[in-house]
Amino acid sequence: MSGLHVAIVMDGNGRWARRRGLPRWRGHLAGVDSVRDVVRGSPDLGVTTLTLYAFSSDNWKRPPTEVGRLFWLLREYCRREQEELRDNGVRVTAIGRRDRIPRSALAALEEAEAFTAGGTRLHLRLAIDYSARWAISQAARELARRVERGSLASGEISTELLHKEITRLVPEPDVLVRTAAEQRLSDFLLWELAYSELVFTPTLWPDFRREHLALAIAEFQRRERRFGGLVAVQGSQEVRAAPAASASARRRRLA
Ligand code: FPP
Repeated sequence: MSGLHVAIVMDGNGRWARRRGLPRWRGHLAGVDSVRDVVRGSPDLGVTTLTLYAFSSDNWKRPPTEVGRLFWLLREYCRREQEELRDNGVRVTAIGRRDRIPRSALAALEEAEAFTAGGTRLHLRLAIDYSARWAISQAARELARRVERGSLASGEISTELLHKEITRLVPEPDVLVRTAAEQRLSDFLLWELAYSELVFTPTLWPDFRREHLALAIAEFQRRERRFGGLVAVQGSQEVRAAPAASASARRRRLA
């Protein structure tokens, strides 16, 4: 699988509901339709890895009824959609802590992981009880453990080793999309997003469909990526020199 990796902070469910005079959870419910459509549309847009921020470790601060509904939706999504996911070649995995996820939601999630394990068209990663700072500290702890056991010398700890431990060799996101006009990372994939293109859209998550994803990818393809070097990369294609127009466009953007 060597297509695009898109990561999405799905934001704006509460606002979507409020604008309609509905309780917040109805926004989350509508957000599941967006998840379904984006997952279905991803392979045709060249996306082979899709990471969705479904529940952050900070979301535990929300009222218990809202937290309960969110895990209920996750459980139902896994239960009801695993067959379609498998038929469409989607492999589901979860990132984040597993020890605090309600038992029935965790069982459904792990069943979906096992059931879809053979999928090769799209890797759908659900970030659940996820915190990037936690993930980075876990990786550091694992390396410290190896030093303690004597299988790693402390001098061998390197950026590359830490990278391998944090990412488990999943390619870094090419694009991060955040909906609902917010422009923050909110403790999402802090290490992995080092060179990702950030695309922000005012569309609220429950209104987001594959067409919006296509627009975000088109925006990414217009950007010039140099990864700190001088050779321009557009989309995932290396180009020989930065086109003048885009250099001036870059200056305009910076101005
Ligand atoms: C942020 O909107 C959204 C969430 C905290 C949850 C996202 C969950 C889903 C889309 C549904 C379940 C997911 C899957 C994968 C089945 P918000 O409530 O913070 O919105 P607001 O900022 O407008 O209040």
